[in-house]
Amino acid sequence: MNTHITRRETLKLLAAGAAGLAVPGVPVFGAMRERVEYRRLGRTNLDVSVVGFGSLSIGLASTEQQRVTQLLNRALDGGLNMIDTAECYGHPDKNHSETLIGNAIGSRRDEYVLCSKVGHENGHFGQGADWSSASIHRTIDRSLKRLKTDHLDIVHLHGCTVEVLRAGEVTEALKQARQAGKISFLGYSGSGERVRYAIETDDFDVVQLTLNVFEQNAIDDLLPLTQERDIGVIAKRPIGNAVWRFAERPEWGWYAEYWDLIAPLNFPFFKGDALADPGAQGAGGMALRFVTSTPGLHTAIVGTTSPGRWTQNNGNVAAGLLSAEQYQAIRTSWRALPRKKRELA
Ligand SMILES: NC(=O)c1ccc[n+]([C@@H]2O[C@H](COP(=O)([O-])OP(=O)(O)OC[C@H]3O[C@@H](n4cnc5c(N)ncnc54)[C@H](OP(=O)(O)O)[C@@H]3O)[C@@H](O)[C@H]2O)c1
Repeated sequence: MNTHITRRETLKLLAAGAAGLAVPGVPVFGAMRERVEYRRLGRTNLDVSVVGFGSLSIGLASTEQQRVTQLLNRALDGGLNMIDTAECYGHPDKNHSETLIGNAIGSRRDEYVLCSKVGHENGHFGQGADWSSASIHRTIDRSLKRLKTDHLDIVHLHGCTVEVLRAGEVTEALKQARQAGKISFLGYSGSGERVRYAIETDDFDVVQLTLNVFEQNAIDDLLPLTQERDIGVIAKRPIGNAVWRFAERPEWGWYAEYWDLIAPLNFPFFKGDALADPGAQGAGGMALRFVTSTPGLHTAIVGTTSPGRWTQNNGNVAAGLLSAEQYQAIRTSWRALPRKKRELA
């Protein structure tokens, strides 16, 4: 098994590229690479690409292996080094996201930070919760196998309640897995008060929370706490599922909730030509740059089934942070929403 120091050194070398030293917050140019910004993921000291990869989409769509292999290898070649997956992203009998990732890039394991989640051993897409220690250990072992690796950098508890956290069995199970060398860092993935509680236990090195132009609560409620404690922060659903693409109101869950906010938020980049603009000033570029411009945010794990999407999003983010005026205008529009609409998470 690789030692932790060797892996960290490898990731730092990758971040440095051919051009010189990687400084968190400063884009790096590499001979074979895109212009990529890496940020230190809090107390983990891992340097992660600010645009990561979320694998919910490939699991939902049971995307074919060849497409995922192309997508991930191209992104790794460009400088992506943050990969997020979960025990339940995919149907066990179809192309499960963990299996797709393992087959695609398991042979390049030293080039990326790998996160998975536990808590739904027998389910898919959030069903079948089991928070027993035995289930968590079985799930980690299964993930290692599917992902073709002997260790995971971060394992998140996948949205358990405060009561489950308080009982302690889940956290203890993760600590045992860390002790056994199967995982390096503990994470909690969820929303709102649950994330706050997880932060306050100080057991977790990383949290994965919802942050996008539609859901901004974390900025005031959680990020001051993570910064105080030097906890790594991963934004899930960072591009708001790109709901501006839909001409009709989508029927599904938070897609519909986000879609309903487009009109009241009245962002200029969700109108007219900006809707079809794939660049940094377009809908996707502005939405993602809002997240990456948020202080305390380290990586945004954008979901995609499209080879080339990571390069597009990374390029948009490399165009630079939003100006203070642009950022505040997005905050002000969101704050003007009725309270109930601001409490999605
Ligand atoms: N822990 C949890 O409970 C939880 C919950 C939800 C998500 N997550 C994690 O967060 C990740 C991201 O969330 P998500 O996948 O639900 O949502 P997301 O990243 O906000 O949106 C993904 C969607 O946006 C599209 N997209 C990406 N970039 C675009 C661009 N520049 N222009 C237009 N469309 C673009 C993708 O389509 P294409 O396929 O065409 O690129 C995909 O359909 C997940 O994959 C998962 O890893 C965790």
